[in-house]
Amino acid sequence: MNLAGKQLLLGLTGSIACYKSAELTRLLTQAGVTVQVTMTEAATQFITPATMQALSGNPVYIRLCDTRIDSNMLHIDLSRRVDAIVIAPASADFIAKLAHGLCNDLLSTLVIARDCPLLVVPAMNSQMWQNSVTQRNIAQLHADGIMVLGPDTGLQACGEIGNGRMIEPETVYEEIIALFQPKKLAGQRVLITAGSTFEPIDPVRGITNRSSGKMGFALARAAAQAGARVHLISGLVTLFKTPWGTSRENVQTAQQMYDAVMESVYDTDIFISVAAVADWRAVQVSEHKIKKTAGQLPPPMYFIENPDILASVAALPAPPYCVGFAAESSELRMNGEAKRRRKNVPLLIGNLGPKTFGKDGNEVVLFDADGSTPLPRADKQSLARTLVDEIARRVLGSSTPLSSSGL
Ligand code: C5P
Repeated sequence: MNLAGKQLLLGLTGSIACYKSAELTRLLTQAGVTVQVTMTEAATQFITPATMQALSGNPVYIRLCDTRIDSNMLHIDLSRRVDAIVIAPASADFIAKLAHGLCNDLLSTLVIARDCPLLVVPAMNSQMWQNSVTQRNIAQLHADGIMVLGPDTGLQACGEIGNGRMIEPETVYEEIIALFQPKKLAGQRVLITAGSTFEPIDPVRGITNRSSGKMGFALARAAAQAGARVHLISGLVTLFKTPWGTSRENVQTAQQMYDAVMESVYDTDIFISVAAVADWRAVQVSEHKIKKTAGQLPPPMYFIENPDILASVAALPAPPYCVGFAAESSELRMNGEAKRRRKNVPLLIGNLGPKTFGKDGNEVVLFDADGSTPLPRADKQSLARTLVDEIARRVLGSSTPLSSSGL
C-alpha cells in the first residue's frame, strides 16, 4: 500500500527539532499525502508557520479560534478530517499535557478530540527525557495506546550527548508507512539473506557475484512493515542503512552466511533467500598477495563448491516456508521451475538478472506448484510489498490470489 490520498495532521511543539518536521512534510507531500500542519505557539519560535505552509501547501493553524473556519470548531474539524495525527517534535511539556489530558491550546485540544491513531515523536534534552516525571508520562501514553517513536541517542542541540534526539524524518516517514500497512505477517519470524558473498583468494583479491542488495533490503523492510520480526543476514551490499524495523548481521563468505543462517533458522517461520551466493570458493586462500611475474602465465586457481544454503534449509526435517530467488540470463521459464524443483522450495521468484542489477525497478515471475505468474514491472520497494503479500497468502492463506497465467 502506498500513502497517496492519506490525510495526516502534523503537530509541531516547542523544540529545536522542528526543522526535522520540515523535511518530514516534504517526504509526506511527495508521497501524495495531504499534510495539515498545526503548531503550538512555542513551535513558532523555532520554525515559521510560513515555512510549514509553503512545504505542506495548506494553511497552518495555531489558535483554537480561527476565523478561517466557518464553524469555528477547529479542534473538531481538523481532528475528524485526518487518518492519523503525528506530533513531531513532541516536547516534554506537550507529552505531560497529553498524559494528563490538559487541553488549553488548539493542538492539545484536537488531540483529545481525535478518533484516529496518534503517533508521538519526542525531542528533548537527555536529562529531561530520563527524568522520572517524563518516564511516568511516557508510560501513561503507552497505556493509552499512543505510539511513541524514539527518541534517539546522540549529540543534542544543547551540546550534551545522550538520549532525547528526535528520530530522523526518514524514520518517522517509514513508521507512518508501517502504520497504514496491513499487518499480514504479524507474529511471523522472517529470515532474509541479501547482497552477495565474497570469497577471498588472497588478502586483496577474491571472487563475488553481482548484487546490490536492494531487493533483499526492500523485502526486509516490507516484511517488517507487514508486522513480521525480521532478521537480515547481509553479504556485500551497496547500501549502508539497515532497513527500518529489522535486525541485521553482516557476513562476507558463503560459509559464514551458511553458519549465520543455520544459527537463526530454528527460530524462523519464513526464510527468504535473496543473496547472490558465490557458487565456489578458493581451495586455498593465500596468506600473502599473489605476485604476478612478468612473462609468466597466471598461477592456476582451484575452487570447491560452497554449500547451497537455500537447499540445505529446505532439506531440514521441519523447514520454514522457503522462498528462493533466481537471476537468469535467459530461458527464465524453464530455468525458474527447474530450479524451484531442484532446491525443493514451494516458491521461487525469478528475474532476468543482468537487466536489473543495481537498478531500482524489477520485473519478476513467481514459480510455485500451480505454475508460473509474471508480475508487472515495478520499483523494488513496491514489488517487495507485493511479494510480501504473495508470501503471506501462501503461508497464511489470506487475500486474493493473483491468477496463474503461465508465461
Ligand atoms: O543456484 P542459484 O544460485 O541460481 O540459486 C539461487 C537461489 O539459491 C537464491 O535464492 C540464492 O539465495 C540461493 N543460493 C544459496 N546458496 C548457494 C547458492 C544459491 O542459498 N550456495
